[in-house]
Amino acid sequence: SDTPLKVAVTGAAGQIGYSLLFRIASGAIAGDRPVELRLLEIEPALKALEGVVMELDDCAFPNLAGVEIGADPTKIFEGVNLALLVGARPRGPGMERGDLLEANGAIFTAQGKALNEVAADDVRIGVTGNPANTNALIAMSNAPDIPQERFSALTRLDHNRAISQLAAKTGAPVTEIKKMTIWGNHSATQYPDLFHAEVSGKNAAEAVGDQEWLESYFIPTVAKRGAAIIDARGASSAASAASATCDAARDWLYGTPEGDWVSMAVVSDGSYDVPEGLVSSFPVTTSNGDWTIVQGLDIDDFSRGRIDASVAELADEKQAVTDLGLI
Ligand code: NAI
Repeated sequence: SDTPLKVAVTGAAGQIGYSLLFRIASGAIAGDRPVELRLLEIEPALKALEGVVMELDDCAFPNLAGVEIGADPTKIFEGVNLALLVGARPRGPGMERGDLLEANGAIFTAQGKALNEVAADDVRIGVTGNPANTNALIAMSNAPDIPQERFSALTRLDHNRAISQLAAKTGAPVTEIKKMTIWGNHSATQYPDLFHAEVSGKNAAEAVGDQEWLESYFIPTVAKRGAAIIDARGASSAASAASATCDAARDWLYGTPEGDWVSMAVVSDGSYDVPEGLVSSFPVTTSNGDWTIVQGLDIDDFSRGRIDASVAELADEKQAVTDLGLI
């Protein structure tokens, strides 16, 4: 189609934004289809955002059909087909978890309401800003006219990290790795699952054949990769988060390949005994802009324990934002 895909990005002047906007503008989500960028920031960051827009102009991207910036979500989200909610309040010194949930609650209630009011009928909303699963739950709960299936939280970075670690362990190229799954919360409790993944068509856990590596190296390395990058780089992972945000949106809108699936945190329908209504990561296939949770996977006791622990954390976060009156 020649009509531009209208893509909103929040927190556009932030670290992830500095990578993400250029990837979107060069076609990482919509390919050759033109895109129009709608960039939301808080007032004090608009000047910096103007500088980023100057750089976007200077790239002369052939498929960038327009850029608008502003601090009012009801203007910026007007008619958007895709909203990537990246901006969030980071945890400041001395901030408790409750404070963090409350600060982000204010952002994601307002943005959920604005999307409900002005987004396009076909809008898809991807939440990258942390705590991503619970922020998605808050936005979803404040947008009663948007189908719940249109919201997801990003676990694609964890998914990609898991693929990369498995590729390094087995010597297989990343293209030979299929059916990776991240279950649960985008947090240290997440469960990257090798029991259903495949390396060159063979079961990944069997191909690795090393439960000790899986438990003591693989899982913690994937789950704590964010902290390792902060240690090394002195700043949090931004380019890889931007790349995963593009991967997730592209696959959601344009479909997953035959014989593979991806990880997305989406509203549970009770599949795999994840309580209905929690936004939890599952293996999903996508087609025509809709996702479907992969059904019928055998979950052994080891995996069950890991999934339950992460889901319990999500239930806890949900209780906390319920108590705060955010949902
Ligand atoms: P950053 O702090 O560099 O940028 C965040 C931007 O959001 C800032 O420019 C800020 O002004 C803006 N912002 C704050 N409140 C806003 C609001 N109400 N409306 C619009 N913009 C607002 O942070 P960075 O590195 O870009 O990360 C963004 C978020 O992504 C963080 O919450 C981070 O924890 C999360 N993240 C998530 C990952 C995932 O895999 N789900 C991976 C990496 C980061």
